[in-house]
Amino acid sequence: MTPDTLKIVDHPLVQHKLTIMREKETSTAVFRQLLREISQLLAYEITTDLPMTTKTIDTPLQPMEAPTLDGKKLALISILRAGNGLLDGVLELIPSARVGFVGLYRDEETLEPVQYYFKVPEGLSDRVTIAVDPMLATGNSSVAAIDLLKQAGATNIRFLCLLAAPEGVRRMAEAHPDVPVVTAALDERLNEKGYIVPGLGDAGDRMFGTK
Ligand code: URA
Repeated sequence: MTPDTLKIVDHPLVQHKLTIMREKETSTAVFRQLLREISQLLAYEITTDLPMTTKTIDTPLQPMEAPTLDGKKLALISILRAGNGLLDGVLELIPSARVGFVGLYRDEETLEPVQYYFKVPEGLSDRVTIAVDPMLATGNSSVAAIDLLKQAGATNIRFLCLLAAPEGVRRMAEAHPDVPVVTAALDERLNEKGYIVPGLGDAGDRMFGTK
């Protein structure tokens, strides 16, 4: 059973693009472009319940009360480094968003995530905060990043990823049941090296052309 905090975006365009991204022969350039496109479709889903208000505007014909986003600008938080691939597309859709970065690495001895960079917009407590990281695998770094965002004052956090493993979804739901997760697909499992299977490989390597 999957937690009810999980939303899988089962849209034909999302699923078609994801299939091309999974294929091992897909080039870096195409992978990056599809990630940008898919991130916007996922961002559409994760923002469907943003708070709204109205304001009085003048159309060329007459005044009207028109809907507009309420509250402070959103905060988008990229979990380095692969989060940057999702961030670019989401920022095109929400250009006024404030942007932060969380850098974590895994301590080889304790296997625990250790923070090496943390810079986030001020006033997180009043902003809808969307953390982005393409792969929700073990969930260790995502959970740690959200711990840090909560310590910095964020109270309304959502998590946007491209692919999720059941292990990561469970871990996130246990640690942060208040954080909705939006993804394009929930894959079968993690392998012994912590890769999502069938997955798409290392998302950072595929988007940046590294190995
Ligand atoms: N991170 C990746 O980039 N890929 C995986 O499959 C798991 C974690």
